[in-house]
Amino acid sequence: MDKHEKKVTINYLKSQKGKSKLTMITAYDALFANIFDGFVDMILIGDSLEMNFNGRDDTLKATMQNMIYHTKAVCRGAKTSYIIADMPFGSIKDEKSSLKNAILFYKKTKADAVKIEANTIPLSIIKTIVNNGIAVVAHIGLTPQNSRDEGGYHVKAKEENEAKMLIQKAIDLENVGASILVVEGTIASVAEKITQSVKIPVIGIGAGNKTDGQVLVFSDAFGFYDKFKPKFVKRFLNGKELVQNALFEYINEVKSGKFPDQEHSYNG
Ligand code: KIV
Repeated sequence: MDKHEKKVTINYLKSQKGKSKLTMITAYDALFANIFDGFVDMILIGDSLEMNFNGRDDTLKATMQNMIYHTKAVCRGAKTSYIIADMPFGSIKDEKSSLKNAILFYKKTKADAVKIEANTIPLSIIKTIVNNGIAVVAHIGLTPQNSRDEGGYHVKAKEENEAKMLIQKAIDLENVGASILVVEGTIASVAEKITQSVKIPVIGIGAGNKTDGQVLVFSDAFGFYDKFKPKFVKRFLNGKELVQNALFEYINEVKSGKFPDQEHSYNG
């Protein structure tokens, strides 16, 4: 498997549009970040950690403090992939406070960019953050931070009007300086049109395979999280089962006295 030897930069990511598919995966700690580092182009500290790691029903309780804590951990484990930190629900309100929060990610962590769920927030906020020297990944389509006010997770751009608005939103976000777009839970043909309509990389999740790259939540993709599985998630590993099998072996060996044996003991 190819591995980046040099730090992945935004210029590199932009240069790959139309040439080579980009990969992004989530990580929430140094341990997994280190396993993924350099193999994927981008690592996202998603607020999905609230569901996968904190056992909540949605992402809404993520805080700036939590996200910064996890971003620091990921940055300690990953030195090569491009690191993107999710701005949590409530951290984007007006230009002043949003900028202050975005700056905190740059000041306190080594994240390369912040991700903002951008369906409904004013473009001027993105512009202000970008103009202050912070790279922004704009997340559109199905945005999980809207799951409560929208009454669940709904596939976007099913209707022509909604599709047109989403394509225009992508263009507007590029125009105010977003570096990358994440398009989630969107009809594939619309995600394809978005990809063709902007020069910046478009990373899809549940948006078909005509985008510039893909992102998945690692605990979904590797089978550690099994509360529910969206249609777009492919399980590349049965993580829970494999870990439990190893756990059962450990328990059995402790109970039977097989472990620890001579090899794993200090014998004087
Ligand atoms: O929080 C997250 O992990 C995300 C991805 C689903 C893109 O936003």
